[in-house]
Amino acid sequence: MKLSITLKSILYTCISASFSIITIPQTSKAQTTTMVKVKVDQPIAKVQPNMWGVFFEDINFGADGGIYAELIKNRSFEFTKPLMGWTVQRKKANEGEILVVNRKEVNSANPRYIQINNEGGVFGITNEGFKGIGVKKGLKYHFSVMYRQMTPGVKLRLQLLGANNEVIGEGEMTPANSGAEWQKQAASFTATQTDPKGKFAITFEGKGKIDLDMISLFPDDTWKSRPQGLRSDMVQLLADMKPGFIRFPGGCIVEGTDLTNRYQWKNTIGPIEDRKMIINRWNTEFANRAAPDYFQSFGLGFFEYFQLAEDIGSDALPILNCGMACQFNSGEVAALDELDPYVQDALDLIEFANGDVNTKWGKKRADLGHPKPFNLKMMGVGNENWGPQYLERLAIFTKAIKAKYPDFKIINSSGTDPEGDRFDLLNTTLRKNKADFIDEHYYRPADWFLKNAGRYDNYPRNETKVFVGEYAVHANQDYVGSNRNNWQSALASASLMTGLERNADVVQMASYAPLFAHIDAWQWAPDMIWVDNLRSYGTPDYYVQKLFSTNKGTDVVAITLDGKNITGQDGLYASSVIDSKKKELIIKVSNSSGQPKMIDFDLEGKRNLKNKGTVEEMASTNLNQLNSFTDPEAVSPKISAIKIRDKKLITNLKPYSFNVFKIPFN
Ligand code: AHR
Repeated sequence: MKLSITLKSILYTCISASFSIITIPQTSKAQTTTMVKVKVDQPIAKVQPNMWGVFFEDINFGADGGIYAELIKNRSFEFTKPLMGWTVQRKKANEGEILVVNRKEVNSANPRYIQINNEGGVFGITNEGFKGIGVKKGLKYHFSVMYRQMTPGVKLRLQLLGANNEVIGEGEMTPANSGAEWQKQAASFTATQTDPKGKFAITFEGKGKIDLDMISLFPDDTWKSRPQGLRSDMVQLLADMKPGFIRFPGGCIVEGTDLTNRYQWKNTIGPIEDRKMIINRWNTEFANRAAPDYFQSFGLGFFEYFQLAEDIGSDALPILNCGMACQFNSGEVAALDELDPYVQDALDLIEFANGDVNTKWGKKRADLGHPKPFNLKMMGVGNENWGPQYLERLAIFTKAIKAKYPDFKIINSSGTDPEGDRFDLLNTTLRKNKADFIDEHYYRPADWFLKNAGRYDNYPRNETKVFVGEYAVHANQDYVGSNRNNWQSALASASLMTGLERNADVVQMASYAPLFAHIDAWQWAPDMIWVDNLRSYGTPDYYVQKLFSTNKGTDVVAITLDGKNITGQDGLYASSVIDSKKKELIIKVSNSSGQPKMIDFDLEGKRNLKNKGTVEEMASTNLNQLNSFTDPEAVSPKISAIKIRDKKLITNLKPYSFNVFKIPFN
């Protein structure tokens, strides 16, 4: 129902505040007011505490070169070209020798190392880092290396170099031991200048022969100061979202282009020198965004993923390969009678996460420093797999997992798209099979998001729940890279997300994808957070996601316009929850139109609402507005106070705005 009332008559109930006032555009014309009803005392569905999560994949240099803070690229010489990322520096030709040695028979996980033979000249090697090395003035850097020397005498001079090869940090390391055994040694030094695109040089001084491997450099300011840990600015952005879960390690990376380079979690735990590096599938996926230097070191492995989830209070949600490689690539499948090792990986992962320290895999977790279980509750079997082949394999996994862990939840794939034959086959069959969760993915234009805000209003209310495991608004191809994360995309996401929240009994988890992208090294856009070597910023999408996850509430309450869900009438989209712990009513509304909208929220029901609250508003009349390294909060929530009178909140929504109103109650 729309009412025409004069602006003046409603101004008194509007907004005033001790710290800020929402201004209502002054207009001489009477403005139409939309009446919206919120039934504040009638919860209609529970919101799961882990409803809003994040999706992590090593895409766009998200792990190596991203959140995993290692600064040396190709530290163990296992890239296809063994010296990729390294250059040799000599003052005179033929000064010093460098040899790449392969000992795959004795060390198949880490076969290559380099041998330095210095006859007494001065020569060295320089690493270019991942699109440069981010160096911060005054920060300590920790170098470490594995070495062995039969003919001692070589000392290592360690130098961070700036853009013009000037030294911006310097240390040295004299190898302490000799003999045929590999040793580990470390040295630290402090940078004297800031440079986002530094390099790291090791000069070999003195006469002798030395073998080197795992040449590593980390900044001191890692997350929780963990040695060889994660980039703290990137983790902090995640922690600030208070995500309910972290989905990892992908994405297509789980599947691999073929089965040999599928993700195998057992190869990603334990000493980093034993984690067998493999090519990153995004290395070759897009010819126009080729990344020949993209590999997976697994320095960020499954133990670290669990630890990260625990650090930031999220549930871990691992996705495992189901015996099928990416069906857009090779489509290779494991023979059904050879699926056992894949299924065993799933069972062992549950034991690794939750098992008693006396179990085989529980003990491994304890040996890594975490005797307490991680309390893993769910996993995905398959990423974007589809077809009868998937159903056959999934059935084998499900039987084995449920036999041993009946309450453990399994996420099932619905393929790559949210509609079409593949989706229909899986959706119908998996529901018949009483699947715990079906994982839906949608990368679609803004108008698809707007049209689908009511998608779940008529979904079956049976035991199978939906996990919207990957979604993002894809602007048209005229927008490239970080320009794709504009306000229009985020606003359309917010609008659809009100439909997910309204249907929280059906859609129990959701995560935007992908999470991170390096501005100089991305393959896929849009992405929620963009980084360079020293900086990171959240896009408008980041702030939308954060608003939902930090205001998730505990119970859905009905919010209607003319008795109907608000799914686009007059450009409006809305959902509402109460938070029974914080004692708050929360209303989320997006105005996707270019006009301001006067709304009269009728807060109906027996709740003792306070007469003051707040609104967090994201708005821009420029739908192409972006955030950036230099203006990271251009589109971000601005907080104001609101007033409620006689159970009414009357407010004027800005054009193209997303608003989260919070009203406390007793
Ligand atoms: O998020 C990027 C990719 O999109 C994921 O790896 C894959 O699952 C989907 O196709």
